[in-house]
Amino acid sequence: MLKKISRLFLKKKINSKIVCLTAYSKNVAEEIDQYTDLILVGDSLGSVLYNFYTTRKVNLSMMIQHSKSVRKGVKKSLMIVDMPFNTYKNKSQALKNCKKVMKETRCDGIKLEGGRKVSEIIKHLVKNKIPVMGHIGITPQSVRGKFKYKGKSEIEKKNLLKDSKLLEEAGAFAIVLECIEKKLSKEITETINIPSIGIGSSRFCDGQILVSDDLLGLTDNKIKFIKKYAYLKSNIRNAVKKFKSEVKKGTYPSIKYSY
Ligand code: KIV
Repeated sequence: MLKKISRLFLKKKINSKIVCLTAYSKNVAEEIDQYTDLILVGDSLGSVLYNFYTTRKVNLSMMIQHSKSVRKGVKKSLMIVDMPFNTYKNKSQALKNCKKVMKETRCDGIKLEGGRKVSEIIKHLVKNKIPVMGHIGITPQSVRGKFKYKGKSEIEKKNLLKDSKLLEEAGAFAIVLECIEKKLSKEITETINIPSIGIGSSRFCDGQILVSDDLLGLTDNKIKFIKKYAYLKSNIRNAVKKFKSEVKKGTYPSIKYSY
């Protein structure tokens, strides 16, 4: 696991971009693992799979269940699990829950959201040998209503820069920068010595992450930074249409598919 984390640092050093994606199940994890450096079991599974309007409704047992499935598909990438809302309110609660996640899912580390508010908690987790990835900018667990990108005002810039430094000092091995204005994400990336992983935060970050279901065209999200690299929804529709027609006609199952 430490080898995989130091590989990320090396990539930052030699300016080789870090490729990250989310996965919520073995099947997807298995397919993406050979191309990714890091696979995140994100609490975005709440909106993507369960249609929750907020990730706050995701709980620890959901994260553990999906992570166990993902673990079966991940051989090469670093596997990180999101700690859900209300599971890291203080040092002892965070350590207890992170240890449980690490033990039950055999993941390589955890991610939690927030800047200065969680820096002491991160310090405590790292001291107890839990590898932690930070997450600043838009932090969905604390957003109500519409998501707006971060880093417009001087005060927001100053705070985000300070937060990124605090997370680095706390011992985080990388930081997700979500929806941060491009000049600021560049400045943060150049300021910190740990990798920055962008989502909606410009090409200047050391790596990029997307929700796999968005990239694969399994969701209808129309957020500016989402680029669809496949259209699986229409593939599914076409396949099912064909199946229906063959069942109706009685051409499926043919002799080939019968005992
Ligand atoms: O939950 C998630 O999938 C995430 C990524 C979008 C970074 O936190």
